[in-house]
Amino acid sequence: SAPVVVAIDGPSGSGKSTVSRAVAARLGLSFLDTGAMYRAMTWWMLANEIDVEDADAVATVCTKPVIVSGTDAAGPTITVDGQDVSGPIRGPQVTSRVSAVAAVPEVRTRLVELQRASADAAERGIVAEGRDMGTVVFPRATVKIFLTASQEARAARRAAELRAKGVDEATIAAMAADLGRRDAADSSRRTAPLAKADDAVAVDTSDMTLEQVIDHVVDLVQARA
Ligand code: C5P
Repeated sequence: SAPVVVAIDGPSGSGKSTVSRAVAARLGLSFLDTGAMYRAMTWWMLANEIDVEDADAVATVCTKPVIVSGTDAAGPTITVDGQDVSGPIRGPQVTSRVSAVAAVPEVRTRLVELQRASADAAERGIVAEGRDMGTVVFPRATVKIFLTASQEARAARRAAELRAKGVDEATIAAMAADLGRRDAADSSRRTAPLAKADDAVAVDTSDMTLEQVIDHVVDLVQARA
């Protein structure tokens, strides 16, 4: 049978990453964090002093960085030109600028190509998470899931995550403010905006535990694979 593709989309803080990783592990599938690829591209732009608000400048150089993401469910890593950037891509510099870089069509063309290649290389199949997995990258995915959660639930989860990592309260507040701005930018951009595919199953996770969401998504995959 054809390899399974599980496409998971949703705004930041919807639980996407944790759920996708756990579902991949449970089903023995590869895992692809496409947000990490947009973050890695952004990290490279900043490291090379490209003005990320200048879409033409970004478009001109975006084929230069060699971005390689591990598709391993055990521990996703991402390298740019051979350098592991898994840590730095989560910081506030990259986080506050990634939406601008992700809105550039040439950037998306390039990364979508890499994302499809990852799926082709995954032997048993892949769980791919992002903003346009179901709508653009994998229109024929086995299962499409659109995870949502109330603004309050998403902000609370993100804050708890950061607090657990020992991030200070001022940074947590700044990143909470950034969350709303980033979602608005991602949802309103012209190319591949964050959107639910018509044939995606919407799951509102506001009042669900992580385990409940994982079980539910695994059930949905098993019903269709
Ligand atoms: O998922 P994460 O929050 O790490 O994504 C970071 C950013 O990358 C998003 O805010 C969005 O701008 C961009 N992104 C995207 N398309 C994807 C995944 C992420 O535009 N498929």
